[in-house]
Amino acid sequence: MLVLVRMKNSTKVKHSKEIGIGMLGCGVVGSGVLKAFNEKKVSINQLVQHPVKLRKIFVQDTAKPRDWPVEDSMLTTNEDLVIGASNVDVVVEVMGGVDPAYDLVKQSILNRKHVVTANKELMAKNGIELMELAEQQGVNLLFEASVGGGIPIVRSIVRDLRANDIHSIRAIINGTTNYILSRMALSEIDYSDALCDAQSLGYAESDPNDDVSGIDATYKLAVLGALAFRTKIDVALIYCEGIQNLSLRDFQCAKELGYSIKLLAIATKENSLLTLRVHPVLIAETDPLSKVDGVVNAVEVQGDLIGKVIFQGPGAGPLPTSSAVVSDILEISRCIALESTLLGYGNLSNTLSIEPISNLTSKYYFRLWVKDKPGVLAAIAGVFGSNNVSIASVLQKRVDTENQSAELVITTHRARESSVWNTVSELKSMAVVQGVSSFIRVEEHSD
Ligand code: NDP
Ligand code: HSE
Repeated sequence: MLVLVRMKNSTKVKHSKEIGIGMLGCGVVGSGVLKAFNEKKVSINQLVQHPVKLRKIFVQDTAKPRDWPVEDSMLTTNEDLVIGASNVDVVVEVMGGVDPAYDLVKQSILNRKHVVTANKELMAKNGIELMELAEQQGVNLLFEASVGGGIPIVRSIVRDLRANDIHSIRAIINGTTNYILSRMALSEIDYSDALCDAQSLGYAESDPNDDVSGIDATYKLAVLGALAFRTKIDVALIYCEGIQNLSLRDFQCAKELGYSIKLLAIATKENSLLTLRVHPVLIAETDPLSKVDGVVNAVEVQGDLIGKVIFQGPGAGPLPTSSAVVSDILEISRCIALESTLLGYGNLSNTLSIEPISNLTSKYYFRLWVKDKPGVLAAIAGVFGSNNVSIASVLQKRVDTENQSAELVITTHRARESSVWNTVSELKSMAVVQGVSSFIRVEEHSD
């Protein structure tokens, strides 16, 4: 159960007349926060009905040029001037990673500072511990920007949907990969050019491998899943496959079949069993998630009372992310100014098990190159049949006369993942199969 916890006077954060903000990091997101803070100074003070002042920013290199002008005196390489300063009430962590962010956030909370963070990796790996610590210390820990950039999804699950028993989340929660997949599908540019564009626009993580390998999306799914299903989720148990092996050819074939290709993060709960997975899917063009293009993110939540609800918006970039970070700062500042309530997260210790991906049942799409000669199709169909994988359609797409080979696109009815793995491995061992270029799960529209 999520509960509202009223702060006792004894646990009230001690603050000066001004509400002091300290920041850890001043990169893409930090610069967006600075810009929003400067441009909205008057309205922020009016909203909070109390002056809110940025005091210090901890960075690695104070001489580095910043995307938004910042006075030299504001920057420091001494973290204590942020996390230990008596004139800082709210610490805003926009550094990323776990080391040293975990120690700095933990120490801030122990120093009775409220914390706002955009760090999905930290919240996925240490979130529950930090939320519990914050509650014990009587301070707020808010992390709206950690999932979906500017989309208000964390607060919606924690507060606005809390009457629901949530049983499904399907989400496009990595802006970089959605941007890359959209560019590949719509502009027919190749993967590496689309990735360069995403990096130059500030969407990608400092190590873009976290984006394209699906890891960033697993962190976000772990955060949403923990809040929605009220349980600790071990990120390592989320099945994860990235987008690096998708080829332009798959986009063309998928389109001809009436599908788009998206990287989906999916979490479902049935009784006490969870399935948690991040991987590319073929998704029917009639599914609203198939139409979510560019850096836009979308999170579809299904609950027993509300049915289905979709949150959609810009999922990365300095300004959309600053919308979430600054809104968290404002919420906490209002609390401090009014000496009022804290939003706690309540019990997040439900005992649920995670179903292994091998038990999944799904439809599948295969693309393979085979020898173009009599009997090959029958032999291939035999492998599917003997593994209990039922073929729904077979299309011979292209023929390479020089090499006497043909490209086949095969779709299946629902089959068990472990049977599909066996099928792939048997196909790969056949002399008449020149290569299994791809096999992708086909996502079915759920009502
Ligand atoms: P950047 O790499 O652009 O910025 C990181 C900042 O942290 C830099 O200012 C850097 O200092 C500082 N920093 C990093 N390590 C240290 C350290 N050891 N000591 C002191 N300072 C350090 O990251 P982003 O702004 O893109 O991301 C920040 C966080 O926000 C991450 O958790 C990310 O996942 C999250 N996020 C990012 C979004 C985006 O669109 N980029 C969207 C939503 C969330 P210096 O500048 O001196 O090198
Ligand atoms: N790299 C992340 C993305 C930033 O592309 O979605 C937002 O968390």
